[in-house]
Amino acid sequence: MVQILIILVLAYLLGSIPSGLIIGKVFYKTDIREHGSGNLGGTNTFRTLGIKAGLVVTIADILKGTLATALPALLAVDMHPLLAGVLAVIGHTYPIFAGFRGGKAVATSGGVILCYEPLLFITLVLAFFIGLYISKYVSLSSMIAGIVGVLYVLVSGIIGVWDPPLLVVITLMATFVIYRHRTNIKRIMNKTEPKIKWL
Ligand code: G3P
Repeated sequence: MVQILIILVLAYLLGSIPSGLIIGKVFYKTDIREHGSGNLGGTNTFRTLGIKAGLVVTIADILKGTLATALPALLAVDMHPLLAGVLAVIGHTYPIFAGFRGGKAVATSGGVILCYEPLLFITLVLAFFIGLYISKYVSLSSMIAGIVGVLYVLVSGIIGVWDPPLLVVITLMATFVIYRHRTNIKRIMNKTEPKIKWL
């Protein structure tokens, strides 16, 4: 029990590492929360600091989820890995190291799935880029990827093997991602959400 609690705390702290804040402040002397959408994530880093910083932050945010989900196996603790993954997503979204103002749960959730079911991760990335190619909205594409994730797990269960913990977690993640994008949804409806120009 104590070991499980330690893993959960470690996963939360790992998720709490504010990569966007660190990269912005250390290399660009910029707090990305004071720019663009104010979000502490890869998209706002791209928008504020450019492609190199955006890529580094996105990859770091993905890896936080991946590493947290791998912690139970790495430390040989008998628990479901998705539990640790969920704590990393909570840490990323409400980071103790950044005043509990974090990202919108997309990249770190993706990292959790990358560790747990890589084929689903590839499907999410494809859904994201197809959504982005068609809509040019990162936020909408993130939500589409979440919904595709839920459908993927449902269809996998219907035609193959059910994975109830994965179904619960991906449904929670997709719901949470949509909840975290509520201001983006308003902007999309007002036609004030910025579109990307490079795809
Ligand atoms: O991952 C977050 C993205 O979907 C939206 O970010 O900065 O446009 O609100 P942002």
